[in-house]
Amino acid sequence: METQPRSVLLADDEVRALELLAAVLRRHGYWVTLATTPRAAREELARSRFDAVITDLLFDGRASGKDVLRAARELAPSAVVLILTGFPMLDAAVGLMREGADDYLQKPVDGALLIARLESALRRRDAGADSIAFVELAEILSKLVQNTVERIDPYTAGHGERTRRYSDLLAVELGLDVATRERLALAAIAHDYGKIFLRDLGFLTKRGPLSEDEFRDVQRHPLLGAEKLGDHARLRDVCLWISEHHERWDGAGYPARKPGPEISLCGRILAVVEVFDSLATRRSYKEAWDLERVIEYMRAGRERAFDPLVLDAFLPKLERFGFEWLRAPQHDVRAAAG
Ligand SMILES: [Fe+2]
Repeated sequence: METQPRSVLLADDEVRALELLAAVLRRHGYWVTLATTPRAAREELARSRFDAVITDLLFDGRASGKDVLRAARELAPSAVVLILTGFPMLDAAVGLMREGADDYLQKPVDGALLIARLESALRRRDAGADSIAFVELAEILSKLVQNTVERIDPYTAGHGERTRRYSDLLAVELGLDVATRERLALAAIAHDYGKIFLRDLGFLTKRGPLSEDEFRDVQRHPLLGAEKLGDHARLRDVCLWISEHHERWDGAGYPARKPGPEISLCGRILAVVEVFDSLATRRSYKEAWDLERVIEYMRAGRERAFDPLVLDAFLPKLERFGFEWLRAPQHDVRAAAG
């Protein structure tokens, strides 16, 4: 597997210092994302995966670096965290190491020292990883899905991976714990796995509407996926959520026609995200919709197709990131075609 450059989130409210450090990191081959407030840092941590977080201790005169550290421990447990601090705050920086920071550096930061300390922290992390980390496993599973389920219908390239990203954003927003988020990630990646067991795979790329018989067969895929994934005790929730990803809040979904409150929260998250990504994607039977039309459709589905709690958490994100998200499917389809 090709190794990707390490990704670093760099948080500091002093833009000039931020840019200088970013330039040093980039020269050493790191992918760098910048955040000028603890809040922006938290948002980035919820959106993307990072190998390292480097944060200043002080933001606007307050020791908010600890909020960045907490967000990193919560949202990116495998990332190393380095604290930057001025001399008077040395004690506070050492205190943060007790709360899970890996190292600290005194300001003004020397570029060569920063790289050396960062690499040493990353080496310590890698050496301590005696098993495959969850994020790596999820990436492997995602690739498998892309090379199997999504190859049957090339229009769906990247659908599982995007479903994982969007559902994780919602999971964070709705306060789900790390263990639940990890299981939800598995369910999101594999939610359409059951499609490969359908009687006739040609239905999936058929132009125009399906016949009643064909649609009935396609509707078996949530349960097929849940059944065929196996009966491992740790996957019980994952299988349940997969089986629920086409249920609707008003009870008119499939396969069980469960009314909203009976559908698990993760099943309801998948249902919202799955519909969004399907609308945003060109399929054999339809073009990709534009953002305005997608938002209007999602809004109209409140308390009908979608759980209002989940939808209300999703809509602001859609309004904020939707334009960017709508470009992702085209990119994934092109990448899959090769
Ligand atoms: Fe599905």
